[in-house]
Amino acid sequence: MSAPLDRTLVPPALQDAGMLEALATELGTPLFVYDEDDLRRRCREYVSTFGAGNVAYAGKAFLCVAMARLAAEEGLHLHVALHAGFPPERIVFHGNNKSTAELTAALDAGVGRVVADSFDELDRLERLATERSAQPSVLVRVTPGVEAHTHEFIETGTLDSKFGFTTHDGVALEAARRVVESPALRLGGVHCHIGSMIERLDAYARAVTIVIDLCAAIAESTGTRVDELNMGGGLAARYLATDPVMSLSEYESTLRTTVKECIANAGIGEAPRLMVEPGRSISAPAAVTLFRVGTVKTIPHGRTYVAVDGGMSDNPRPVLYGAGYEAYLPDRIDEPRPLACSIAGKHCEQGDVVVTDARLPDGVHVGDLLAMPVTGAYGYAMASNYNKVPRPAVVFVRDGQARVVVRRETADDLVRLDQA
Ligand code: LLP
Repeated sequence: MSAPLDRTLVPPALQDAGMLEALATELGTPLFVYDEDDLRRRCREYVSTFGAGNVAYAGKAFLCVAMARLAAEEGLHLHVALHAGFPPERIVFHGNNKSTAELTAALDAGVGRVVADSFDELDRLERLATERSAQPSVLVRVTPGVEAHTHEFIETGTLDSKFGFTTHDGVALEAARRVVESPALRLGGVHCHIGSMIERLDAYARAVTIVIDLCAAIAESTGTRVDELNMGGGLAARYLATDPVMSLSEYESTLRTTVKECIANAGIGEAPRLMVEPGRSISAPAAVTLFRVGTVKTIPHGRTYVAVDGGMSDNPRPVLYGAGYEAYLPDRIDEPRPLACSIAGKHCEQGDVVVTDARLPDGVHVGDLLAMPVTGAYGYAMASNYNKVPRPAVVFVRDGQARVVVRRETADDLVRLDQA
């Protein structure tokens, strides 16, 4: 239990404690620090495994202009783009309740794919497309009713889901028929995202089986072949040394083999193009968050709290999902960690604990730099100003050089929307 941190949780460029200390001193803490080459490496691995044009980065995991540019340079599509000059034809537009204004903006920008989520949305989309004589490519998002064995808040493919059209009772088939029969819309394919943080590949295989059945039914009932199958994202990241290492090639071969087998069984000729939309598995492992220790408090006969200068406002995942993380002191990374403690955030809630069962070296002091690895996804993306805490800066490190890609918020930023 007192083992040092497993260094493989920290990307190579971020293993230099002196550099991290210098960045924290110059830019303050909390600070998100990404290894840019690590991000690029995983983008390339995805593209070489699934093929060029078949990978969309799920920007919801972590997006800023620098990240959107990086994804564009590495040849990925983008699922949800902000204004980063990202090529619109490579945008995949999602949401379970897209407004008329959002759909209008998407059509006017010429986004490559709109993922349809409800019959109301199809009505809206058809009207807007007709008015513009546009013929958007529509992916019908379906929920196949499979368990993904992940936290219920991030499980999206079950029957009781707010997303998409269920494959039960012909609902998804009806949605596809609506698209095919509308002169204003073009059926781009079928989309199925069963959830996030998925460690069991068999869940994907079960989903693919159901979705290929649907593709066969669509072909039979409308005479239109489904050209593209987007299986969403969801591959788990390794947050703790004890978490499994997920293999991209096994993930790909599970999806591809199941598609092939099901296509052969259904006797529907050519397999649809397989696309994926990874978020977490690309960006989570690429970053560490740096904090400064502000207080060390040992309750007599009780727990030791090591309080840091961030918490649920830069990483709400522990509070929301009970997510586990490791903690370490970068300048003592290889030392044993005999001190059992909790890493507390600075927010006014007892629940604001970022690592409940942390291990640190003995002799942790006020002012020490403390790091949490694998915080590159759904950390900054879900950051808030709770307790009026400014959001941290984000830094990309490459070839020993650091550049700030998102500056830290200031006290002025915190009141910039106030009208009083
Ligand atoms: N595609 C769709 C349609 C999605 O909804 C998501 C994530 C992804 C792709 C990317 O999934 P990923 O590869 O990142 O698992 N805040 C939660 C995760 C929410 C995921 C939402 N959808 C967390 O921190 O665990």
